[in-house]
Amino acid sequence: MKQNIYDDPGFFANYSSMERSIHGLDAAGEWQAFRALLPDLRDKRVLDLCCGFGWHCRYARQQQARSVVGVDISEKMLARARETTDDPGIEYRREAIEDIDFATEEFDVVITSLALHYVKHFDLVCQKVFRCLATGGAFVLSVEHPVFTALETQDWHYGPNDVRLHWPVDNYQQEGIGTPVGWLTTSSNITELSRLTSTRCSMQASSSPES
Ligand SMILES: C[S@@+](CC[C@H](N)C(=O)[O-])C[C@H]1O[C@@H](n2cnc3c(N)ncnc32)[C@H](O)[C@@H]1O
Repeated sequence: MKQNIYDDPGFFANYSSMERSIHGLDAAGEWQAFRALLPDLRDKRVLDLCCGFGWHCRYARQQQARSVVGVDISEKMLARARETTDDPGIEYRREAIEDIDFATEEFDVVITSLALHYVKHFDLVCQKVFRCLATGGAFVLSVEHPVFTALETQDWHYGPNDVRLHWPVDNYQQEGIGTPVGWLTTSSNITELSRLTSTRCSMQASSSPES
């Protein structure tokens, strides 16, 4: 399941018009929490998996990272990343996260933001990340919370006059592949994998050679 929905013209246009796509990390809801988890990036070799428009790659270099590699499956996302990057210290590569094959201990920090819910074999990605991370390195990631991925409608329940009543949390505990309806697209040509945080943590931990 290596989907590339971000190269769909309609989806890409809608994603491009989101606040985070226009204004960058400061307009991204998860950014403050994500940034707090990052180690000191000075002189680090950083890998950004599913880098999208490259916001995190550029941030890493602002923090004096030695080098940054950004990987993404989408040609359109990478084209925008390259247009908005003027820095020989950042290299963008088109590749699926499932296919990455970096050298052992090639990076000090691996980050990936809001993309792993598109990937079926999270455990395999973790194994690849652990292999290319130097000893003592950091793997910092964010995924869509199951409160979003558990329900295909991914929308509020509305009352009369479209008043928001509540956000449904049905099927919260249910893990598996869903096809969210209405998120940037009108067709159901996108799949997301809902997993509980506890499941991801145990998969991540068991991928480490030290566990
Ligand atoms: C929601 S965007 C997040 C982009 C960026 N990480 C950010 O936080 O701004 C998800 C990104 O993941 C990429 N992506 C999704 N599935 C992928 C896969 N299997 N391999 C590589 N990139 C993938 C998409 O092309 C898209 O650029």
